[in-house]
Amino acid sequence: MSGIFTARVPSNIALIKYWGKRPGAMQWPANDSLSMTLNTLNTCTSVSRSLEQDHSLWMNNQVFRRHDRRFDKTFHQLDRLAQGFGFTAPLAIKTRNSFPMGAGIASSASGLGALTIAALAAWTEAQSFHDLLAAGFSQHKLADLSRQGSGSACRSLFGGFVLWQSGDQADQQHYESLYSADYWPLRDTVVLFSSEEKATGSTEAHELAWSSPLFGPRLSGIPERMQAVQSALASRKMDELGPWLEAEALEMHAVIMTASQPVYYLSPAALDFIQALRMARLSGELRAWFTIDAGPNIHLIHEDADHERLKAWLAKRLKNEQVLHDTIGQGPRLDFQSEQMA
Ligand code: PMV
Repeated sequence: MSGIFTARVPSNIALIKYWGKRPGAMQWPANDSLSMTLNTLNTCTSVSRSLEQDHSLWMNNQVFRRHDRRFDKTFHQLDRLAQGFGFTAPLAIKTRNSFPMGAGIASSASGLGALTIAALAAWTEAQSFHDLLAAGFSQHKLADLSRQGSGSACRSLFGGFVLWQSGDQADQQHYESLYSADYWPLRDTVVLFSSEEKATGSTEAHELAWSSPLFGPRLSGIPERMQAVQSALASRKMDELGPWLEAEALEMHAVIMTASQPVYYLSPAALDFIQALRMARLSGELRAWFTIDAGPNIHLIHEDADHERLKAWLAKRLKNEQVLHDTIGQGPRLDFQSEQMA
């Protein structure tokens, strides 16, 4: 049945980062990672069959075609899926992020996840995840396919706290939601120090990471940190989890800052902010801990009960920076609208 297949896939924030991937096309990470799936920070992608010769991609009322370098990953992913499963129909794709692209909020995770689900739904005419499963696309398979478009996208396919294990071989990677979103309803409050697209994308950074003298020691320490973070999740103690989050984020940045071609994602304003946050926490003014992805924006992870105090502190401290408020979320959605209703 023709119609519009819409996937809404949340972004995710890594508590233990995927940083460094092994050579090859399989997006095989150097280490296991663990993330929290977000809720309203998401990508919504609607796909229908197109009468044109090739796929078209609409974003912010603008159309993009193949060969537009900004959307290389999108068209590669469509080609990979079409070739892998023998789909030939051109698709019309409309996509919208609820946050600025390339700003250290994983737009590639939610974007490639939403594209993968919506495109496969349109090709197989699956109106629900149940239909996708019947067509041979389990949640694990969808995660595998999304991962090939963008590594961290695989984690966005699950809700709550999500573990991505690298496995013994590139085709044996494992994903699992350790706890659902309502197990521990944490929040992520994001301070945007810049919403511009970053100059060094994560693909390049994953390759550069290997050249840092800190990368080997980082990999050796990951199992212990993973255990500590999982034990903090098991006991739901923010004071236990928080310090690990900050150590992890700073280590990831230390690795890339000491690579053969150093990359500085952190701006002086972001560093000042971190310092002030730590002081405020030490003085008992707030209870929030930071983590930072490959960008200058700061994610503040905290419990619901600490949100109002954090908001008040941010209002006092920030000048023009935008703040996004989100919570842990349940994972992706797939909806169908028939042509008559569209
Ligand atoms: O999925 P990629 O290639 O955009 O890499 C994501 C890297 C980080 O966001 C910095 C860490 C992570 O695990 O999400």
